[in-house]
Amino acid sequence: MIDMTLEVELVPHEQRKAKPADILQVPFGTVFTDHMLSMEYSDGKWHPARIHPYKKLELDPSALVLHYGQGIFEGMKAYRRFDKCFLFRPEKNFERFNASATRMVMANIDEQQALENLKHLLKIEKDWIPQARGTSLYIRPTMIATESKLGVRPSLEYLYYVILSPVGPYFKSFEPVKIMVADKYVRAAKGGVGSAKTMGNYAASLMAAKKAKELGYSQVLWLDAHDNRYIEEVGTMNLFIRFDDELATAPLQGTILPGITRDSVIHMTKDWGYTVNERKIPIDEVLEGIQSGKVLEIFGAGTAAVIAPVGNLWYKGDDYSVADGGIGQLTQKLFDTLTGMQCGQVEDKYDWVSVI
Ligand code: COI
Repeated sequence: MIDMTLEVELVPHEQRKAKPADILQVPFGTVFTDHMLSMEYSDGKWHPARIHPYKKLELDPSALVLHYGQGIFEGMKAYRRFDKCFLFRPEKNFERFNASATRMVMANIDEQQALENLKHLLKIEKDWIPQARGTSLYIRPTMIATESKLGVRPSLEYLYYVILSPVGPYFKSFEPVKIMVADKYVRAAKGGVGSAKTMGNYAASLMAAKKAKELGYSQVLWLDAHDNRYIEEVGTMNLFIRFDDELATAPLQGTILPGITRDSVIHMTKDWGYTVNERKIPIDEVLEGIQSGKVLEIFGAGTAAVIAPVGNLWYKGDDYSVADGGIGQLTQKLFDTLTGMQCGQVEDKYDWVSVI
């Protein structure tokens, strides 16, 4: 349904920014398009959304998000092939956005309307969607608590906004990622906010990420907060381990993000005949499996990361090289199928891709 109240203020053509000459050379999320979408919530209701020139936010220094972290976001992508633009399961992102909002006691948005408004914005910014395989226009719907107040309680005012950033792959080229298994810090505990895409989860991950970087690893694999033993997620992606013909991933028990790429991988691999289990996976089972050869491949799955092969795991001072350290056969097939489907080059038998 077209939002008749959607106001649009366009940047004059001659003032629009130059687009990156080679998107593959641009670090992830550093270039933004000419326009953004904003919508404010106050007096118990959302006010009409606006598409307007990309600009800095004006926030009161006492805005609740700046003090108590009431803020959430989503990550989704628009893809392009020739003149056609595509979205991949976008309704799932808005569904998860509202689940995060509910968990953080924030106002919910109208999911269908938000999708229509996003499509409107994307039509305006269509020329910003890069074409090459593995590139896309990254979409960041965000909501922050804007009420000016220092008392700790849910905000009565919110700002919802959407910004767009042309991106290449999150990890430079499709090469195996080196991951440090966190042996000291944890990301989320049962009953906490681990399944919400809320800002604080990412802030909480930075200390371990710093340690990983110092050790020469680029990502952190979290273990559960109770036993410090079971695999959770990588923070920027969910993790899959292939033990012979079983594909295993951590179950959704409130401590990890319910990834949309994760869900898509589960669907596709079940269809391809794999035994797929969402189960508790002890880290020692993975390390023993790597040593015995039972672990054939490990990969991450996420919107930004797509499918990322994992080449090495560090745990308590030792480095474990997964299989031959290269890209697994299932990892490659998933990457090719997903990226092909997302730009209309591979048959979409699940009806996941919508043309804008
Ligand atoms: C995404 O995959 O879209 C994410 O939100 C991960 C991001 C923090 C890079």
